Amino acid sequence: MKIVPGVAHRAKEKTKIPLHNAEEQEGLRAAGRFNAQLMDALRAFVKAGVATIELDRMAYEYTMDHGHTPACLGYKNYPNSICTSVNEVVCHGIPNRIALREGDIVNLDLTTIVNGWHGDSSETFLIGQVSNEARKLVQATFESIHLGLEAIHVHGRLTDIGRAIERFARMQGYSVVQEYQGHGLGRNFHQEPGVPHYVPPNGASNVVFEPGMCFTVEPMINVGTWRTMLDNRDRWTVRTMDLSLSAQFEHTILITESGPEILTRTNAGPQPGHKFWVQQRYVSLEKCRSDGKSRTLFNEPSGSLLAIRTMKRWSLRLDHA
Ligand code: MF3
Ligand code: CO
Ligand code: CO
Repeated sequence: MKIVPGVAHRAKEKTKIPLHNAEEQEGLRAAGRFNAQLMDALRAFVKAGVATIELDRMAYEYTMDHGHTPACLGYKNYPNSICTSVNEVVCHGIPNRIALREGDIVNLDLTTIVNGWHGDSSETFLIGQVSNEARKLVQATFESIHLGLEAIHVHGRLTDIGRAIERFARMQGYSVVQEYQGHGLGRNFHQEPGVPHYVPPNGASNVVFEPGMCFTVEPMINVGTWRTMLDNRDRWTVRTMDLSLSAQFEHTILITESGPEILTRTNAGPQPGHKFWVQQRYVSLEKCRSDGKSRTLFNEPSGSLLAIRTMKRWSLRLDHA
């Protein structure tokens, strides 16, 4: 067997998985970091009343303002900068002018190019109070990606990811989408290796992780059937065959000597162990103006220090009144 430098070897298939050197890894880290930063920048706007095309616009502007490139825009003629997949849409939902509504779940899938390197990640957001069915699905999907990530060990096998995800999803009564997978990325948006989120019955790849590999993990988990259908009008939107709910989370992972690194960790998003059960409550303070209009002075999660201090001040005033 001929050894090609910088390329991992598989015993049976002759596919080429790029291995990134130290300098290239820094490029990948910067791309992942920016992609996560974009997710955090959009976060506050993902709420009822906002149209997905507005989120797309914001993502485009934020990315360009920082001197980077939205990878989706024009990719295989995709018309927008991000994918926005609502409810029964599994992936590749095209942003539109329909406003998000209380009770929706929406996945924002962002991919950016930073100095030639790709970062790719997605999160499913709950819009206001959602059904228990939706909340449980999002919770299980979030836990499944982290179980998949925990199954990654240097020199371990790629199939460990799908096994962990599928086992958990099935235990919860859900199904795992098979037609769409995670993928290698780097200078290219999609490259080897393919990353299935289930265990293919036969022909499973025998890829062994090696330092320098970079790929995504992005399980799509459905309430009903795992089967999907492609919208034949836009040729992009993927829905569940039975129109049941679907959720997804995605991270970009780099394998290093010291273990796997999640390159697309956000600062403000849900962290491992997060519970979607309790709806975040906000404390807000409005100032009424003489013209009858009001201005929001303050809107903070009820657990924040600022909110607690403000609530205390106001309850003290009420006590005195
Ligand atoms: N970001 C998606 C992924 O995780 C791919 C979107 S391709 C597009 O692989 F063309 F629809 F943007
Ligand atoms: Co993506
Ligand atoms: Co991806």
